[in-house]
Amino acid sequence: MSEALVLGIESSCDETGIGIVRGSTLLSNTVSSSMYEHVRFGGVIPEIASRAHLDALVPTLRESLETAGVALADIDAIAVTAGPGLAGALMVGVCAAKALALATGKPLYAINHLVAHVGVALLDTKLGPLPEKLAALLVSGGHTEILRVRSLTDDVQLLGATIDDAAGEAFDKIARILGLNYPGGPAIDALAKQGDPKAFAFPRGLTAPKYMGSAEAPGPHRYDFSFSGLKTAVARRVEQFEAAGEELPTADLAASFQEAVLDVVTAKAVLACREQGLDTLLLGGGVAANSRLRALLAERTKAAGIDLLVPATSLCTDNGAMVAALGAQLVMGGAAPSGIGFAPDSSLP
Ligand code: KG4
Ligand code: ZN
Repeated sequence: MSEALVLGIESSCDETGIGIVRGSTLLSNTVSSSMYEHVRFGGVIPEIASRAHLDALVPTLRESLETAGVALADIDAIAVTAGPGLAGALMVGVCAAKALALATGKPLYAINHLVAHVGVALLDTKLGPLPEKLAALLVSGGHTEILRVRSLTDDVQLLGATIDDAAGEAFDKIARILGLNYPGGPAIDALAKQGDPKAFAFPRGLTAPKYMGSAEAPGPHRYDFSFSGLKTAVARRVEQFEAAGEELPTADLAASFQEAVLDVVTAKAVLACREQGLDTLLLGGGVAANSRLRALLAERTKAAGIDLLVPATSLCTDNGAMVAALGAQLVMGGAAPSGIGFAPDSSLP
């Protein structure tokens, strides 16, 4: 099939996304977020997210079809995020996709959310085929990974990942400690602009020689990340200020914390590209909206002679278009549909 018309459904976290693509042309990308319902808890509450998906799914689907100017009957295939993500949240999207597939008789494709974050680049950058030597840096509230992408449909290799919190999760937790609202990423990004990133020397997780090793003899966590030690270090510092009855230097704390996260994330992504012979790096995930991350990564990739691809922020955060885009690649590549029997997998590798 040359230009498959595919509907994509995303519900792995707190965004209900329905996107429609024709081949690699974006027709619509409608997202409804329950983000603000989680504000008072300081993080995503799975039960609330699942219920919000139930409420949002049909209206979001209607709006997306209307924006794209297509009817359900015109769709060639349905693609849905099967994992990784929150089990209950995934279940809502997968059940909806199965119902639609049964009702319309269209083939159904189960999609890996992380690979979809990479495939979205096809929509935005007018790349045509993906670059051959491609790496992806995914940083969001649920994942922090470096991937090597040989083929979107059957060859994506995990080079490194966080061993504890995701980067966005760390932003959200530190924001809470500093008295900022959820989601903490944008709040820290803004506050950090008024602070000194060198005010506090916070730890750079998994950068010690015993974890890194060398290019010839890589350590156990050369391309991996850890943010829990950093989180504890910031919390300790805050406690010290509070115990001394001093006012919190929130801007300096935010800037120094942010720099510690982004220094490691950008350095390891560039290192992985250089050592693995990858000449293009794609940035994805909600944290890709961070202004300091974009600037630092641009600087470091340029110095290393690596091309950097940064899709529009609306395509970097969770959305249905990325699911549809990967679904279209599968359809057009002649992949067999997943059938109706698959179950969502919250820890899909
Ligand atoms: O990709 P996403 O929308 O959902 C997940 O899959 O998690 O990412 C949401 C995460 C949140 O943790 C949020 O705080 C973070 O992305 N984020 C940011 C910024 N905007 C969103 N982190 C740092 N700086 C930002 N400007
Ligand atoms: Zn995501």
